[in-house]
Amino acid sequence: MSPVWVLVGVLLVLVPLDPTSSQSTDPSTADLVNRNADFATRLYRAVAGRTDDNVAVCPFALSAGLTALASGSEGQTRDQLLQGLTLNGLSAQTLPDQFQNLTNLVLGGDVPSNLQQGAAVFPGQSLQVSQSYLDLVQTKYGGKAQTVAYTMPHEAMDTINSWAQDQTGDRVQDLVSQLDPQTQLLVASAASYQARFSPPFNASLSQEERFLVDSYHVAMVPMMSRTGKFSLAYDPAVRAGVLKLPMADGTAMLAVLPDEDVDIGAVEDELTAEKVQSWIRRLKKTWLEVLFPRFQLEHWSSLKDVLQTLDITQVFLDTADLSSMGGAKDVRLTEVYQKSVVLIDETSDDVTAQGGATTLLTPPPRLTFNRPFIFIIYQETTNSLLLLGRVSDPSHK
Ligand SMILES: *[C@@H]1O[C@H](CO)[C@@H](O)[C@H](O)[C@H]1NC(C)=O
Ligand SMILES: *[C@@H]1O[C@H](CO)[C@@H](O)[C@H](O)[C@H]1NC(C)=O
Repeated sequence: MSPVWVLVGVLLVLVPLDPTSSQSTDPSTADLVNRNADFATRLYRAVAGRTDDNVAVCPFALSAGLTALASGSEGQTRDQLLQGLTLNGLSAQTLPDQFQNLTNLVLGGDVPSNLQQGAAVFPGQSLQVSQSYLDLVQTKYGGKAQTVAYTMPHEAMDTINSWAQDQTGDRVQDLVSQLDPQTQLLVASAASYQARFSPPFNASLSQEERFLVDSYHVAMVPMMSRTGKFSLAYDPAVRAGVLKLPMADGTAMLAVLPDEDVDIGAVEDELTAEKVQSWIRRLKKTWLEVLFPRFQLEHWSSLKDVLQTLDITQVFLDTADLSSMGGAKDVRLTEVYQKSVVLIDETSDDVTAQGGATTLLTPPPRLTFNRPFIFIIYQETTNSLLLLGRVSDPSHK
């Protein structure tokens, strides 16, 4: 080969093809994305393993809240928190900046994000929190740290609930419905996701269909419908189909539908960050008629027990060391609450005409989400996992 061609080849390799793809390859951000994805799937398995009902968790908001808490702790308390969040080995000094970079990348796009979320640290009045810690939570974790008088539980509840409403455009109501006056410190997170599919579903094609909740129950639910090219994968190892539904804001939903004779719990047991990545890699374009239920989920969780099963224990004990928050002595984390709301409907800003019916020579295969399925909402440039859930019965919240 002539030296000129070798040179051309080298130049082509050096020129970044797309500015956004060079952002996503920033190694420290990519590392944080992978670690958060690992925590996200472990959290989902732990929450989903405790119920047969609908589930929605926003690990992204929870990670922000707990990493902010780690930034306020010291010694073993901090090490164990970071370990539980799969952030072990990362420097506590650079973590806040890394987190801020990731949040900017994930939520800072030109199009308003479908996800509205927030995390907060609410210490009781016995805790002297330094101004520098309050500033850190706000600037680096996009969160809030605010002292609350738990001895007046109703006022404390109002403060926390109004914060959650503000973070989510009023969609998350009643994040807390009772509070222990003995509360020392509470971590809260709230998330609301409104789908804006792109291409959209045409509302005039939606109609009532049967959804098989389980062997004994059928619910009639509104099913949206669209015929077109979709990205689809099939995982023979767990026997489930995986459909990608892109959104206008750069996020996408993976909807995971186990085969009819496969228990959804068996698929959930295999749900790891690597599994999700392998599904994304395997997606292939194909013509389909997709029927997908319209639904509205609300999921509230008290995560103290769940986090303890993920080996985050020390911070809940009297021996917790939260001294980096300021003058915190003998203070422990009392509870961790999260409420997530997910709205899936035909709402769209996408005006590209869909047409009533796409005329094809032979009708494409039909994929109907008429039995329990898993959904995973992720941001496409970074593959960050934002929200995970299970629809057991779309006719229930
Ligand atoms: C955050 O992003 C900036 C700009 O891309 C970069 O210079 C910095 O090193 C990043 N910080 C961390 C801790 O990753
Ligand atoms: C939606 O479907 C109806 C009925 O088939 C059709 O008349 C209409 O043009 C479609 N709307 C859009 C925006 O494609």
